[in-house]
Amino acid sequence: MDPNCTSSIGGTATQFSLPFSHQHETDWHFRGFTVKLRCHETKTNQLVELNVLVVVTGSSGLIGSAAVRHWDAPGNHVIGIDNDMRSTFFGPTGSTEWNRKQLEAETKNFRTESLDIRNRDVIFDLFKNEQPDLIIHCAAQPSHDRAAAIPFLDFEVNANGTLNLLEATRQFAPDAVFCHMSTNKVYGDAPNELKLQELETRWDYANQQEYHGITEACRIDQTMHSLFGASKAAADILAQEYGRYFGLKTGIFRGGCLTGVSHSGVELHGFLSYLVHVAVHGKPYTVFGYKGKQVRDQIECSDVVKAFEAFAQNPRAGEVYNIGGGRENAASVLECITMIREIGGYELEYNLSSEARKGDHICYISNLSKLRRHYPVWDITVSLREIVTRMIQAEKDKLD
Ligand SMILES: NC(=O)c1ccc[n+]([C@@H]2O[C@H](COP(=O)([O-])OP(=O)(O)OC[C@H]3O[C@@H](n4cnc5c(N)ncnc54)[C@H](O)[C@@H]3O)[C@@H](O)[C@H]2O)c1
Repeated sequence: MDPNCTSSIGGTATQFSLPFSHQHETDWHFRGFTVKLRCHETKTNQLVELNVLVVVTGSSGLIGSAAVRHWDAPGNHVIGIDNDMRSTFFGPTGSTEWNRKQLEAETKNFRTESLDIRNRDVIFDLFKNEQPDLIIHCAAQPSHDRAAAIPFLDFEVNANGTLNLLEATRQFAPDAVFCHMSTNKVYGDAPNELKLQELETRWDYANQQEYHGITEACRIDQTMHSLFGASKAAADILAQEYGRYFGLKTGIFRGGCLTGVSHSGVELHGFLSYLVHVAVHGKPYTVFGYKGKQVRDQIECSDVVKAFEAFAQNPRAGEVYNIGGGRENAASVLECITMIREIGGYELEYNLSSEARKGDHICYISNLSKLRRHYPVWDITVSLREIVTRMIQAEKDKLD
């Protein structure tokens, strides 16, 4: 390969400009895959499109599977890491095995490795052998309520697992782009310190300057995080540090409510998905605290993945972004229940418990200004109504 070649990681392919003789298409053996090199003549050289190798952790989960589909579709090679640990965290209903099977049937150049990100040796071996161009890190223990019962497992997966992946990248793929899926729980309950006003169906920010929500400047210490928020804060800071200290191209994405039809929603994680599930299946639901007026901003998983792509095309080192549905896709639990009734005609049976979940946000809206400023190509494309409509349809399909 010509040392002067240039590359960029996008949704389509890495492009190398090579000054070699005329050739239109050839097979090339690359990192254990046979890659088709397609060459287009230019004035001085040939432009070769070379597909990239993407490693997606948590590939059977909500965000991971969206990333797999996104990068597989244009012909890239994608390796998923997922050991179905979600079923260990939440029991059989939380299992993501169904999604793995579906993905493997649908995709062209994708395979899953049932590896545990806590196992440093196997992660190092994989990175040494494959040297990925892009890492999308979504494997996690994702529930803040669950973490209290499994503190060691939570920390080992979220913090140590992330460190294993960052160090493997530094040692074996230092030029790769690393997108780390973080969470708004790194802010703990600090967002609850903002002055709020109680409206008929929701809490909202009382001050106009906070209308667009929480920025990345919100402090992350001296607040109550839950153990999950603490382990994710450790991972978030490690990912920043590998960017700032070692110069790796790490992007840290602090998610609001991430959602989509491939969420294996359970009571302790995946609020909207679970809410639609219980509504369609006629099961009871308990809303914890704040009279059901607590606000969440919902973003569809494909919009999250588009942000990763924008970052991968023009990466920075150790940059942090809030990502969620923003003001337009924000709604309270009560408003979501109304929307499910309006769209699907489902009347949800729910109880209002006065006991709030520890450290729960009362009103959380991700301020998307920084992400939009750094990546003007990116925006929200799926509305909350559309998200709920798709989820209802997916739940109805399960009944058939
Ligand atoms: N879904 C949300 O609302 C939300 C909000 C904010 C942040 N996040 C973050 O986004 C990321 C992805 O979330 P998601 O909703 O797709 O989660 P998910 O639970 O749907 O998917 C995570 C996947 O990781 C796998 N996994 C867990 N531990 C593993 C391990 N040790 N080794 C290998 N695989 C393992 C699980 O089996 C699961 O398939 C997580 O980091 C989560 O904290 C999610």
